[in-house]
This record gives sequence, structure tokens and C-alpha cells, in this order.
Amino acid sequence: MNLPLIIANWKLNGNKKIFSTLLNFLKKNKKVFKQKCKLNIAPSHIYLYKFREIIKENQWINLSAQNVDIHVSGAFTGEISALMLKDMLVTHVIIGHSERRNFHNENEYLIAEKFNLLKKQNLIPILCIGETIEEKKDNKTIEICKKQIDIIFELVGKKAFYNTIIAYEPIWSIGSGNSANPKEVQFILSTLRTYIKEKSSSFLEDFYLLYGGSVNENNIHFFCKEKDIDGFLVGTACLNFDIFLNILKKI
Ligand code: PGA
Repeated sequence: MNLPLIIANWKLNGNKKIFSTLLNFLKKNKKVFKQKCKLNIAPSHIYLYKFREIIKENQWINLSAQNVDIHVSGAFTGEISALMLKDMLVTHVIIGHSERRNFHNENEYLIAEKFNLLKKQNLIPILCIGETIEEKKDNKTIEICKKQIDIIFELVGKKAFYNTIIAYEPIWSIGSGNSANPKEVQFILSTLRTYIKEKSSSFLEDFYLLYGGSVNENNIHFFCKEKDIDGFLVGTACLNFDIFLNILKKI
């Protein structure tokens, strides 16, 4: 595995004080982070500004947003545009997370529109895909993931996945403490990589496949052994700085 990409998804957590502490923690442990991973932090939108300084000073961290609107400006109360995100030095945006699909009724078509917009705005989509527990029991994981990928290809075309990230996040695993089996994840990701490569013809460069779902200091080591896992989308475990640091030490 090359240096894994680690995206810390803070979800609806943190406050001004916590993010200031996080910034100090990152600066203090810069050496470990740089040695162990390509780091990407995804705070809630209103705290993105706090990371501007560290991003400007330190090219070793990238900044992600947790959502984006399909419009770039106008009368869309409460939304965040890609232009605003770029203004905050954001380079990546998480879309299709199961929490947005489930709690905010985001469907495949809206997610594909978001993906398309991000590409046009030169932002890197982090597309989350994955199956429910029922779908897993029915052996439908690959089928479900391929469907979620196909909708993007249909709207965006052959080059869709050039310079993008897909995070395979089984829905039953997210936040449950119950991670997927690393060998199964390897099989799923290698199958999806081949599938996407074939559909992309020669246009699959700078493409990452991540795993997300209850990654922690006790299991990351096993995932790192698998060759098709390029990194991780980490939720709960990144909220505790000691655990976060321990995760890195286990890579
Ligand atoms: P988790 O969240 O690490 O708490 O399972 C992962 C995610 O939702 O991205």
C-alpha cells in the first residue's frame, strides 16, 4: 500500500474550541501524519474557515466538505455552493454518504448531479457507496455498488472517475463498531476497480478506493494488508485525538 489516504469525517460534531485543539494537535503531530498518510479533514461547513491557515501553510493536509448544493449561487436558502467551498480552500467533497441518502432523502440522481457539478468545478468528489444488511445477506453487495456507480457513468460519461475517490461504506457497518471483513472488502474493491477501469477505457488516473465503516486502532492494520484498499473514511475514531493518533501508528 502506498501512503493511505485518510479522510476524517467529523459529521455533526465539534465546536470552535475542539477544532482549535484539533489544529494544534495536527501541527504538533505533523511528522507522524506526514509519514503515515495523506490526511484530509472534513469538518462541518461552518468550521472550514478555521483550517484555511493550516492549509495555506502546510500542503500536507487537504480539506473536504461534507456536502454541496447542485446550484452554484442564487435563491437557495440554507445551501452551500461549490464556489463558497473553493473560497475556503476546500478541494474534496463527500457525496452520497448513507446518512444523507437516509436522513435527507438524497437519491441516486441528485448524487449524480452533485458529482457532475463537482467535476465541472474542479473539486474532487468522494462518492460513498455501499449496501444495507439485507442486501448483504442476499449477496447483492457488488450488484448494488455497480448500480450506484453506473448512474454516475450515465450522467458524467466515460471519464467520470478520473481524479475521484470512491468510499465503499457498508451501511450496516457505519458507526456500529462492527467493521467489514478485510478480505471481503478486498474482493469487493478489486471487483469494482476492474469494473470501473473497463468502463473508463484509458481514463482512470488518480483514482482511489477507500473503505469506511467502524475503522479503528484495532482493525486498521488488517485492512492495510489488502492491496486494493487505498485508504479510509474514518468517522467515530477520529473524534478522539489519542485514538486517531493510534490509528496512524498502526498503519
Ligand atoms: P464510522 O463512520 O467510522 O463511525 O463508522 C464512517 C463514516 O460514516 O464515514
